Amino acid sequence: MLDLEVEIGFARPSEAGEIARLSREYIEFGLGWRYTPERIAAALRNPIKNVIVARQGGRLVGFGIMTYREESANLDLLAVKREFRRRGVARRLVRWLVDVAVAAGMENVYVQVRQRNSGAMAFYNRLGFYQIEELPGYYRGREAGVIFCKPLRPVFVVT
Ligand SMILES: CC(C)(COP(=O)(O)OP(=O)(O)OC[C@H]1O[C@@H](n2cnc3c(N)ncnc32)[C@H](O)[C@@H]1OP(=O)(O)O)[C@@H](O)C(=O)NCCC(=O)NCCS
Repeated sequence: MLDLEVEIGFARPSEAGEIARLSREYIEFGLGWRYTPERIAAALRNPIKNVIVARQGGRLVGFGIMTYREESANLDLLAVKREFRRRGVARRLVRWLVDVAVAAGMENVYVQVRQRNSGAMAFYNRLGFYQIEELPGYYRGREAGVIFCKPLRPVFVVT
């Protein structure tokens, strides 16, 4: 299917509630709700985080949140509304967030995925992330977490 034409940009404070509800429905289901509207609003104000959204005709279709540290970045949350999936929206959101990390000279991007989320794992593999660790009980003791990493710098092998 053709990629969806979307605009990527910073989330607005008025979008914090919708982002939090998407996190609850698509990412945190069965675990309790941690990424509440207040927490998303705080992320919007946090200078080491980027909260971005994809919009089509002004409507929010997906979002991503990345935390940038000294040498690495962490993709905290990412989701696309069900009816807009498999049309390149998440790929574009991740590219935007990763480009910032590359420009800042960071070495790696990390992301944590629920073990049962095979769709997300296939997505991250496709984008050049690889599995580095599996942590039993990572999600509030209820589900294992799988840690993925994407190296951002070329590796030169000296022979
Ligand atoms: C994972 C998720 C963000 C992917 O969003 P998306 O916009 O559909 O992804 P894209 O269209 O950019 O996918 C790019 C490529 O990744 C792979 N991919 C994406 N979703 C996949 C799936 N469910 N199964 C297998 N491969 C998948 C495909 O290779 C795809 O390319 P193709 O459609 O041309 O084959 C979306 O399914 C989602 O929101 N899931 C619920 C929340 C979630 O799991 N978030 C991630 C953990 S925090």
